[in-house]
Amino acid sequence: MEQKSAARKIKILLLASLILTIAVSMLSVNTRTSANSDDSLAQQQAQARKSKVNPRSVGCIVCHKNSESMHVDGDDDLDIGCADCHGGNPNETQDKKKAHVQPRFPEHWSSTANPQRLNAMWLKESDEFVRFVNPGDFRAADLACGKCHAKEVVWSKKSMMTHGGMLWGAALYNNGAFPYKDAHFGESYGAGGAIQMVFTNPQPTPEETLMQGILPFLSPLPRWEITQPGNILRVFERGGELKGLPSDIGSPNVLELPGRPDVKLSDRGLGTRLRTDPVFQGLQKTRLLDPLLSMPGTNDNPGDYRMSGCTGCHVVYANDRDPKHSGRFAAFGNLGMTQTADPTIPKNESGHPIKHQMTNGIPSSQCMVCHIHPGGNHL
Ligand code: HEC
Ligand code: HEC
Ligand code: HEC
Ligand code: HEC
Ligand code: HEC
Repeated sequence: MEQKSAARKIKILLLASLILTIAVSMLSVNTRTSANSDDSLAQQQAQARKSKVNPRSVGCIVCHKNSESMHVDGDDDLDIGCADCHGGNPNETQDKKKAHVQPRFPEHWSSTANPQRLNAMWLKESDEFVRFVNPGDFRAADLACGKCHAKEVVWSKKSMMTHGGMLWGAALYNNGAFPYKDAHFGESYGAGGAIQMVFTNPQPTPEETLMQGILPFLSPLPRWEITQPGNILRVFERGGELKGLPSDIGSPNVLELPGRPDVKLSDRGLGTRLRTDPVFQGLQKTRLLDPLLSMPGTNDNPGDYRMSGCTGCHVVYANDRDPKHSGRFAAFGNLGMTQTADPTIPKNESGHPIKHQMTNGIPSSQCMVCHIHPGGNHL
């Protein structure tokens, strides 16, 4: 009896394992066939995308053949056409002038390379042209990038690499030109390249400002002609009666007139005889912080090639031959020349990005274009 039931148990077990094997193999066949159909669907979709030209690119790519995709993973896959970023007329295929947005000051744009030392001319160009040349500029990024990267656009515009408020604040306070320790001044441009104030919204409480350093606002620097001195740098001013005599700090000059020290601020009244503040003036007239992110680089030297805005970091230029600073980009030299497949771009002039492509692996040489200047104090 016992043997019989044991044999039956074995039979049942065998049967069960057989059923299980069949079921498992059927299942795996099932998953395999469904994976196959997924693959072919993806392939079909990819092919459809490839053969379907984006209507916002259609005219542009007649001339700009093989231009790289700005997003590494493919602008086409993200459904972004050339004109979504650049503007311009994507239906024109013959006349470059009609397809392109034209500059206000064509004398500065004789070639496609970034012009040298453009400085404030960049602000005088129309928003449409700025967007056409560089969709990543902060005057264009709302339209070109904001739809998908709203957070990055808002944050970058308020970054201290855009407004430079920390260095300005330190220079003004430490030299006695402005009495408050919290930064009050910063650089920012709005539509039409107009200077503007930036605000924190919602306004921070005084506690948040004190404890976390959240500033309520930054305003543009005042015109230097109306600023008033009140700081130690006035000692360099001409006008002391006995100027020219040797004068050591701390050793009294016996020839000084009583009550009228040779080294002093000034005997002129505030605002008279161009008596203005040298720190406010210096901040406006020197490139202490390089042009900040709202402006292109000077594009006149190895180490100074870059564009403005998001492009300033994410689109890499050939600036440095050392693999330690430039990684895989070192191979392209330091003369700011292009390697693009786009046949319209001259291959032998400086002031072009290496490729029409953004990266997240930004080499430190790209940051050093600005950080070599004193702002970041990295050197
Ligand atoms: C008829 C040919 C043609 C068409 C169509 C065309 N381009 Fe161009 N594009 C050129 C050439 C050639 C250059 C090289 C510089 C030059 O000769 O002005 C150029 C340069 C550019 C530049 C660099 C401009 C600069 O000054 O830095 C951009 C950006 C550009 N094209 C974008 C576009 C976009 C976007 C479209 C479609 C809306 C387009 N192009 C359509 C021929 C064309
Ligand atoms: C995601 C936004 C984006 C898209 C899409 C895009 N571009 Fe650009 N393009 C840029 C940016 C940003 C620059 C500025 C790079 C610089 O000057 O550093 C640029 C620069 C260029 C330049 C000048 C390159 C040089 O070497 O001076 C040309 C030409 C150009 N784009 C053509 C095109 C064409 C043609 C298409 C469509 C096939 C296109 N772009 C699609 C963002 C875009
Ligand atoms: C239609 C939506 C869309 C627009 C418009 C767009 N992006 Fe993107 N971008 C994405 C998505 C989605 C990703 C992430 C997936 C990927 O990496 O492709 C991305 C990734 C990126 C990255 C990471 C690096 C990379 O290439 O993956 C950068 C940098 C970037 N975008 C910058 C920009 C800038 C600058 C603009 C405007 C000139 C812009 N994007 C416009 C959707 C967009
Ligand atoms: C357009 C010029 C510019 C570029 C490009 C740039 N920086 Fe800066 N950065 C500055 C300036 C100017 C300051 C200091 C501002 C001040 O003192 O008010 C700064 C400050 C900083 C700070 C300290 C402040 C903060 O926001 O935390 C860090 C960190 C920094 N940069 C990192 C980088 C890195 C990393 C890169 C490259 C991916 C880079 N920067 C590219 C101009 C630039
Ligand atoms: C000062 C340099 C700098 C500027 C200016 C800058 N970025 Fe970036 N961005 C970076 C760096 C560095 C990274 C990579 C961070 C990382 O790898 O974690 C990055 C990452 C990104 C990413 C990928 C984020 C993710 O989660 O993967 C996007 C998208 C992006 N940036 C968009 C933008 C846009 C849009 C702008 C302009 C409005 C902009 N960036 C301006 C330096 C910059």
